[in-house]
Parts: sequence; C-alpha cells; structure tokens
Amino acid sequence: MEQTLSIIKPDGVKKNIIGEVIRRFEANGLTVKAMRMLHMSKEEAQGFYAVHKERPFYDSLTDFMCSSPVVVMVLQGENAISLNRTIMGATNFKEADEGTIRRDYATSVESNIVHGSDAPETAAWEIAYFFSALDIMA
Ligand code: CMP
Repeated sequence: MEQTLSIIKPDGVKKNIIGEVIRRFEANGLTVKAMRMLHMSKEEAQGFYAVHKERPFYDSLTDFMCSSPVVVMVLQGENAISLNRTIMGATNFKEADEGTIRRDYATSVESNIVHGSDAPETAAWEIAYFFSALDIMA
C-alpha cells in the first residue's frame, strides 16, 4: 500500500465539488487516511511549492493557493501516487484525458482543481508538510 498527498485547490473548494472529487478517489480505489481544511498563508504556500521557486509561475501559483481555503488529504491505495495522477489527469487540463477531474473541472493550468504528489519521495515530504504521524489513520 502506498500513500500520496492530495490537495483540493481553492478553485475546487469554491466550485463546491469537494464531495465529487473525493467520490472519484474512493470510486477508483483510494481511501482517505487523513483530511483537513485550511487557509494557507503566502509563506506556507511558498514553502509547499519551494521546488518551483525558480519557475515563472511561482508567485502567481502561491498567490492562488493562499487565496482561499483548500482541503488536504492523505490518500492510500495500491500504486496510490500514479493512480491519483491518473484520476486527476494532466496538469494542463487541455491535455487531460476524458473522465479525469482536471478535464471535467479545470479552467486553466493554474486553476486545475487538484494537486497530487508526483513520486514516493515527494509524497513523503508533502504528507509531512501538513500532517503528523498521529493524524494519519492506520
Ligand atoms: P500542481 O500539480 O499543483 O503542481 C504545480 C502547479 O503549478 C501545477 O499543478 C499548476 O497548477 C501550476 N502551474 C501554473 N503554471 C504552470 C505551468 N506553466 N506548468 C506547470 N504547472 C503550472
């Protein structure tokens, strides 16, 4: 069993599709093992996306991520990291497969509804950014 970090971004929360996003994860074999809603500060968003700090979209992305509340979750399942990325669809919604969350709901590369970890090392780091071991259900 593998774990991954999922974020329902400000656009997903504003669209009132928290339940629909989680339904898709659960219907496709992922289980929620930890979850909370929070409104990140600019510094917290910058820390989370520090890997992108040299990218031209970093400032806009971190502004967006602290613009309103998000839902952060630990998802667990067989191959959870790649399975979550399949359910989400490509970062650019225009390239996302039919039936994926981003294809159905994203409105730009930035406002793409969800974030998911891209590798085991980043999943471990991202989970620890938001949750302590005691927050994650066995
Ligand atoms: P996410 O999976 O959260 O990882 C980084 C985020 O940066 C990405 O989704 C997008 O929301 C955002 N982003 C904005 N512009 C770009 C871009 N040109 N290329 C990749 N990611 C971008």
